[in-house]
Amino acid sequence: MTIDRRKNDHIEICLKERTRVSHDHWDDVHLLHQAVPSCDLDDVDLTTNFLGKKLSAPLMISAMTGGSDKAMEYNSLLARAAEEFGIGFGIGSQRAGLEDPSKIGSYSVVREFDIPLVLGNLGAPQFTSGRRDKVQGYSLKDVKRALDMIDGDAVCIHLNYLQEVVQPEGETNVSGLLENINELTDEVKIVAKETGAGISREAALCLKEAGVTAIDVGGASGTSFSAVESYRVADGSGRSQRIGKTYWDWGIPTPVSIKLANVGLPLIATGGLRNGQDVVKAISLGADIGGMALPLLRAASGGYEELRKEILYIIDEIRIGLFLAGCRSAADIVGPVHVLTGITGQYMDIISR
Ligand SMILES: Cc1cc2nc3c(=O)[nH]c(=O)nc-3n(C[C@H](O)[C@H](O)[C@H](O)COP(=O)(O)O)c2cc1C
Repeated sequence: MTIDRRKNDHIEICLKERTRVSHDHWDDVHLLHQAVPSCDLDDVDLTTNFLGKKLSAPLMISAMTGGSDKAMEYNSLLARAAEEFGIGFGIGSQRAGLEDPSKIGSYSVVREFDIPLVLGNLGAPQFTSGRRDKVQGYSLKDVKRALDMIDGDAVCIHLNYLQEVVQPEGETNVSGLLENINELTDEVKIVAKETGAGISREAALCLKEAGVTAIDVGGASGTSFSAVESYRVADGSGRSQRIGKTYWDWGIPTPVSIKLANVGLPLIATGGLRNGQDVVKAISLGADIGGMALPLLRAASGGYEELRKEILYIIDEIRIGLFLAGCRSAADIVGPVHVLTGITGQYMDIISR
């Protein structure tokens, strides 16, 4: 299975099938209403500084795609929107671009747009010492090539072991990962990014120790890559369907992971955010910005106007959430402005003991 075929499968599956974890943990987070807001709605300041860049709203389009013609179309639409709204943009895994120069255009299309924050993307298994297929792991030179490809500000190293264990062709090697990440961090800003299973306190601390600049918690609540892989029948044996279903809901809920991964580094909250209120909830829990993937892919599949309308709504909802929670800006959310219920509340109780 080629990498670009796999990436196209992911897009198709995510657009057509139900790939979300069973419980929406954002429903368990409730913001407290302030009947007397702190300022006029129009005066709520959404501008956010993140990784030294100024975003017009605390929002980014999370990593999704690259490596095929379809991916190029999506990256072009998403990057155009990131420029128009002054928000962050994460490109999908750049492995195909590093290994096949004919694929570079599907990533470098992003350079045509003036985006305040652009994040590259490479997979953790490519930074380990014991690659199963014996291809040499990526070096600092490769990471710089990935950054140049998109004129990026930092590179996400995605941690996707849940997906890898379900994939028939999955790469499940881990040894040497932290040491190899550590070697990069003197020269390049690295964002450690989960892809739907969340970051624990232990993982956050060892990633911090390894020198990463920021963490994207990529928690459970939205797209489940265990689910996505369960729809792919690449090996015909039924193994992926079986394992994918068993581990469909595996992972740390995003709201919980935001608390656990808060180890003093800039924090992106991705995983199940579906509207601007979810972004405000994420910020109230300790994230600096929220990231969304599937909702924006879905909107982009309807064309630029639909994507534009969706992002306009999301930004409007962020402003309204901050206003009603009594905040003048995202940085203004301090103290207990939320209540946690249900299973997410129980998780929080246990982790805070
Ligand atoms: C079609 C698709 C492709 C993705 N590809 C990547 C990827 O290449 N690298 C990565 O770090 N995350 C990837 N992700 C994960 C997202 O960045 C995000 O962490 C995850 O989907 C949870 O966010 P959501 O619930 O808003 O979709 C992908 C997500 C989708 C939907």
